[in-house]
Amino acid sequence: MARKPMMAGNWKMNNTIPEAVVLTQEISNRLKYEWEKVDVVLCVPYTALKPVLTVLEYDKVEAKVASQNVFWEEKGAFTGEVSVGMIKGVGCKYSVVGHSERREMFGETDETVNKKAKALVAAGLGAIVCVGESLEVRDAGTTLDFVCAQVKAAFAGLSVPEAQKCVVAYEPVWAIGTGRTATPEQAEEVCAAIRAALAAQFDAATAEGMRILYGGSMNPGNVDMLLAQEDIDGGLVGGASLEAPSFVQLVQACLK
Ligand code: PGA
Repeated sequence: MARKPMMAGNWKMNNTIPEAVVLTQEISNRLKYEWEKVDVVLCVPYTALKPVLTVLEYDKVEAKVASQNVFWEEKGAFTGEVSVGMIKGVGCKYSVVGHSERREMFGETDETVNKKAKALVAAGLGAIVCVGESLEVRDAGTTLDFVCAQVKAAFAGLSVPEAQKCVVAYEPVWAIGTGRTATPEQAEEVCAAIRAALAAQFDAATAEGMRILYGGSMNPGNVDMLLAQEDIDGGLVGGASLEAPSFVQLVQACLK
């Protein structure tokens, strides 16, 4: 893998401040080396961003912190929303955008994902752009077209340097939180198609340099097979990121 791997823990709506601090401390106690070989990202709830960053800074751990969502407007009457400037001010380097749970439950669309990605890169942050098909789409045999269209829409209007700040996370909806992982071959087929789509949208060298993560029931038992695939550069992990030992095993898998 020529690209620097990334292991991102997506905590979703889990962990109060004390719980977040304990988990971060447990992770940092176990991981104090080789930061230059892997990017570790913790995607935590807004309320825990600052406490988690404080622990990482205190422990001198180079992990990055990301929000799980962000709004594209700078400021104003948008009750309940959080701007890019706000997460940047706290110290976030990324935000997840377009997670399937947000697309399904909170009305996120390809268009809003694109607006969020644009706002993030304009501020110098990166977007972790989630794409992935439902079981219906997979059964219909249109997965590659569907996922590549999501990628194209998410990156529409971004320049090459802006796209290079971003990461794509391929997360088949049917594999998220279900314990049903895509086989390495299934995941690789889609990740390779995503890379080809990025090459068509930008250029081959840009696509070669961008990281594509797999997400969906990734765990210490299946991580090696997934990371062994040519176009899989890491993971976006939900369940297995909520316990320090399993998350640390996933990070270590990136160092093999
Ligand atoms: P999971 O979640 O690892 O629990 O399947 C992944 C995700 O939704 O990012």
